[in-house]
Amino acid sequence: MSSRIVPTTPENIAEAGRLLAAGALVAFPTETVYGLGGDATSDRAVAAIFAAKGRPRFNPLIVHVAEAAEVETLVVADARARRLMARFWPGPLTLVLPRAPRSPASLLASAGLDTLAVRQPDHPVARALLAAAGRPLAAPSANRSGAVSPTTAAHAAELGAAVSLVLDGGPCRVGLESTVVDLSGARPALLRPGGVTPEALEAALGEPLVHAAADPTAPRAPGQLESHYAPGLPVRLNAAAAHPGEALLGFGGTPGATLDLSASGDPVEAAANLFAMLRALDLPEFTGIAVAPIPERGLGLAINDRLRRAAAPRP
Ligand code: TXA
Ligand code: MG
Repeated sequence: MSSRIVPTTPENIAEAGRLLAAGALVAFPTETVYGLGGDATSDRAVAAIFAAKGRPRFNPLIVHVAEAAEVETLVVADARARRLMARFWPGPLTLVLPRAPRSPASLLASAGLDTLAVRQPDHPVARALLAAAGRPLAAPSANRSGAVSPTTAAHAAELGAAVSLVLDGGPCRVGLESTVVDLSGARPALLRPGGVTPEALEAALGEPLVHAAADPTAPRAPGQLESHYAPGLPVRLNAAAAHPGEALLGFGGTPGATLDLSASGDPVEAAANLFAMLRALDLPEFTGIAVAPIPERGLGLAINDRLRRAAAPRP
């Protein structure tokens, strides 16, 4: 079943905004590619994005804002970030920055990292939708995992019934995803080439970019390090019960669980709770975190991928 494709009338944009505020998913045009949008402040909506994309792992998502000033509550922007925002926003540039201490952005949108990617898109429909929704929107490219980038509404509609509405803004102008620059470290690093060129970025920054793909000392793209998302405590998987001193993270109503990812065994709810619960159990009063088995189905694949990394031997 494919999604409902509608023209970008003010009425349809208002309806899309209401749907997003209620936690539903809406595909919308940006100047780069179509995005699959959900409320960036809702772990539930972000988990639904991962379920709709069929990604076997949780890659962190870009959070889109209507106005550049909105990033202040989400991330910590330094002078370099302000310079790039002033020069290239709205536009095809995504900045990875440290999460603000009380950032309202979903931990799942950061895929458990301490950083968050933010971007102000340059498309009248995207901006009208962000304003109508009244909240930042997490939006990966609106294609199923492994499929090509969606540059038309028909591509986005292939995601199917999980998407409540597809706003048809015609073909995308850039047709290539945004450039991703990591400003969370000492040196600015290019994580993904895209709509804004490295030369233009270096001219604005007044310093060279580290190219993550070519430089082994550069920050890695997320997902490359086996124990990248590990909590401080050791993590033990497929546990039937807790050993003395361990916290037990349950699934599907595990008896004796300290916390349960989803008492009803719903993988979307479990994904929504994953990072918040791992953090909540990462306490000195416990010796480790034991995790109940999670079925390798649907979002369970991505949950297990992330848990295996959390449990991998530490370097
Ligand atoms: O043009 C675009 O950027 C489109 C439109 C919809 O805005 N969005 C898009 O999102 O391409 P997605 O999820 O398909 O790609 C996001 C990229 C990934 O390469 C991801 O690894 C990186 O941004 N990323 C997101 N958050 C990150 C973070 N906290 N640290 C490092 N990389 C991050
Ligand atoms: Mg993508």
